[in-house]
Amino acid sequence: MWTSSASPAILSIVISLGSCLSTPVSQAATDLPITQAKQLSQANETRRNRQIAPVMSAVHADWLTRPERDAEEQPDRLIEALSISEGATVVDLGAGVGYFTWRLAKQVGSRGRVLAVDIQQRMIDLLERNLSEKGIHNVEAILASEDNPGLPVGEVDLVLMVDVYHELQQPEKTIKHVRQSLKPDGRLVLVEYRKEDPTIPIHPLHKMTVEQARFELGLMNFQLTDLLDFLPRQHILIFKDAAQYQ
Ligand SMILES: C[S@@+](CC[C@H](N)C(=O)[O-])C[C@H]1O[C@@H](n2cnc3c(N)ncnc32)[C@H](O)[C@@H]1O
Repeated sequence: MWTSSASPAILSIVISLGSCLSTPVSQAATDLPITQAKQLSQANETRRNRQIAPVMSAVHADWLTRPERDAEEQPDRLIEALSISEGATVVDLGAGVGYFTWRLAKQVGSRGRVLAVDIQQRMIDLLERNLSEKGIHNVEAILASEDNPGLPVGEVDLVLMVDVYHELQQPEKTIKHVRQSLKPDGRLVLVEYRKEDPTIPIHPLHKMTVEQARFELGLMNFQLTDLLDFLPRQHILIFKDAAQYQ
């Protein structure tokens, strides 16, 4: 997510700060002997062929509501394109301060519900404040852990992850829970800055190519069913459970 229009020096400070704040993948398997955990971590890195980005700290939460964001990311157009039904159960996974949450809540209406998930209590606090200011009551905030978003099984119509997948510290475990949460025809939607385009001013660790996403999610039993590319800077990648297609 970080813009690279900032000076390289500032960027490298931010990136290393973020790296310090997040749990490196190699430390995640804490129960394993160090050498075994390291080998596992390296195997996953090779399969992914990318470095996992650090988690965006809530210290930088203002960036999520920067004035130019509406023009850069066209959130209303994105939500409209997803054709989410009134009454649906939707997850905003990695919700941050709720920039998409309140829009989803309006879309599903009072008969629907939004589960807004984040791993940082500070983000949840800011999200709840923003929702309360907007008078929105059909959102349930969930403080998750890095490997488990805490979702109900088989109840969800759509999981939206805007600018989040690339910074999941344990993508396989998180996405396994996402898959279990979806109804049989449920959708997983990733929105990621286009890595294919070097002119998009975002640090490369925070961008993804379509092929990277398709490959990784394919390993996790998801099939890419739609690719929408009308946003100025981001891919919209729509996945469904690959078991539906076998
Ligand atoms: C770049 S922000 C995007 C926030 C929001 N989606 C938006 O577009 O405004 C990424 C968010 O994902 C959250 N996050 C990172 N890893 C997560 C995980 N494993 N489960 C849930 N949230 C996570 C971070 O705490 C952060 O709030």
